[in-house]
Amino acid sequence: MRLPRSVREADVDGKVVLVRADLNVPLKDGQVADDTRIRASLPTLRLLLDNGASEVRVCSHLGRPKGVDDAFRMAPVAARVAELVGDARVTVLENTRFNPGETKDDEGYARELADGCDVYVNDAFGSAHRAHSSTHAVAQLLPSYAGLLLLEELEHLGKLLGDIERPFVLISGGAKVDDKLGVLRNLGGRADTVLIGGKMAEELRVENPLDFDVELPSDVVGAAEFSEDAEHGVYAVDDLPYAWLGLDIGPETRERFASTLAGAKTIFWNGPMGVFEWPDFAAGTKAVAQAVAANSSAFSVVGGADSVRALNEAGLADRVSWVSTGGGASLELLEGKELPGVAVIPS
Ligand code: 3PG
Ligand code: MG
Repeated sequence: MRLPRSVREADVDGKVVLVRADLNVPLKDGQVADDTRIRASLPTLRLLLDNGASEVRVCSHLGRPKGVDDAFRMAPVAARVAELVGDARVTVLENTRFNPGETKDDEGYARELADGCDVYVNDAFGSAHRAHSSTHAVAQLLPSYAGLLLLEELEHLGKLLGDIERPFVLISGGAKVDDKLGVLRNLGGRADTVLIGGKMAEELRVENPLDFDVELPSDVVGAAEFSEDAEHGVYAVDDLPYAWLGLDIGPETRERFASTLAGAKTIFWNGPMGVFEWPDFAAGTKAVAQAVAANSSAFSVVGGADSVRALNEAGLADRVSWVSTGGGASLELLEGKELPGVAVIPS
């Protein structure tokens, strides 16, 4: 795998540095619910400060707002960054997705971001699969380098691209179904078994465009409506009452997935099995976290903000081989693609 040039090679003394980090963290009641991605961006920020940067402007997207939206302001994230870095030279810019140009890789918006900056550092591994203004267009306007996290992610995930020990079990869930289906289609051949939970399983049951076998849940925790305190119960998938929703995998599925994971030598897990933020629908994701992290000696990689949050909440993050800050990005990397945010940085 080609590695982009490292921020360690950049001369930042007295310079203004624009850093693209992936600070797209889970929020709860307007507060940061899991700060893994913020902490993961600190080594690069500290390196830049130690090397004399006069100013470090950190930008990121947060959520998927359509234009300016108070629910997705960077303020809580910026406060956490300030708390952890404690250096006034670091500032966090407002959500890049408030600008309609961002997701179009618009050069005009990239120029706004680059304005007044001398160097660009991309440390946003979790967003490196996006060709957006802040991850791609801007890299063509300034001398650009890869941050320490980005490089570390490429190194660790690269191991999954080489010779791996088999069986290789891929387990995927989460809400971004449309994003992931295309990736799974290309990835399926690399894994020996593909386990699917969450909303993705619900959609695959209706229409399955994949040309390989996947294991879907046989039972679910069904809910009468999409709410935290909905009436709920365990049902075989075929017996789910009309208009009810499967919001978690059921106990039989948890056991089946766990026993497949127990036999794996290599595991990649991305995406929760249900709406694990709600206690009544968390057991499936917890069971998978347990199976991947505590009950396995496989080379295990867990990627994506939500899966990592679940792992942290279960106190299991130090029991896996690599915790990746990227969900979609790590899946696309596993496909063997060079990610646009990486491709644009010279070697
Ligand atoms: C993520 O959480 O997967 C990354 O931050 C990318 O977010 P996106 O899928 O909205 O581009
Ligand atoms: Mg995410």
